[in-house]
Amino acid sequence: MVKVWVCENYAEVSRRAADVVAAQLSRKSDSVLGFATGSTPEGMYAELARDCREGRISFSHACTFNLDEYYPISPEAPCSYRRYMEENLFSLIDIDPANTHLPDGLAEDPAAEGKHYDAMIEAAGGIDLQVLGVGQNGHIGFNEPDDVLILGTHCTKLTHSTIAANSRFFASEDEVPKQAMTMGLGPIFGAEQIILLATGAEKAEPISHLLAGELRTDFPVTLLNLHNNVLLIADRAAMGE
Ligand code: GLP
Repeated sequence: MVKVWVCENYAEVSRRAADVVAAQLSRKSDSVLGFATGSTPEGMYAELARDCREGRISFSHACTFNLDEYYPISPEAPCSYRRYMEENLFSLIDIDPANTHLPDGLAEDPAAEGKHYDAMIEAAGGIDLQVLGVGQNGHIGFNEPDDVLILGTHCTKLTHSTIAANSRFFASEDEVPKQAMTMGLGPIFGAEQIILLATGAEKAEPISHLLAGELRTDFPVTLLNLHNNVLLIADRAAMGE
């Protein structure tokens, strides 16, 4: 069953999520961390950067795999998830850049890139702690609502709702790439522990389906009901209060 921590505000969600990551690093300094992008985890990354700067935690032995990257996109593009991770976390902590991984947004052969990404995760021993956000439409990573969901890392088409939701990061909706490389459900569900962060009323619908114990491919986040170590850290608005 999904465990739930309800927080008073975004700052508390961010701090408590950072505490979970920090505890994981204290337990196992060479943890394999699965990271997410989007607005929701920005506060958590700021807290982790501060913890690292002030010497409470170190990422020097850790390794990271991000959930997804737009396709096609150059890593240097202002809206790439590589750029987001560099700006929000990697450049602010003591991690070895060689230990940070995102799917290649310029892969010539996306299918081969998906296989390669999964093989790297497997070679690292799988993910110890996966951080997840949720799309307004219930997506996790870029596993969009569909009849069929996919196990391995793959290239996928983005739904109109996701393109519209993410257009706020781009100059216009037309600039949002129409596809993305995303971890499939296999590597996500292979994680030993998952924390799902949700803030704001736009997330209340997917969260309500999750907490109702539903299993729906039209709300991929609900499949987290099948994992035995999921912690939802949410504010009251995302809880529908
Ligand atoms: C993005 C990402 C997801 C993220 C979600 C929510 O498109 N691919 O990994 O969890 O949408 O984003 P936000 O936190 O900005 O609401």
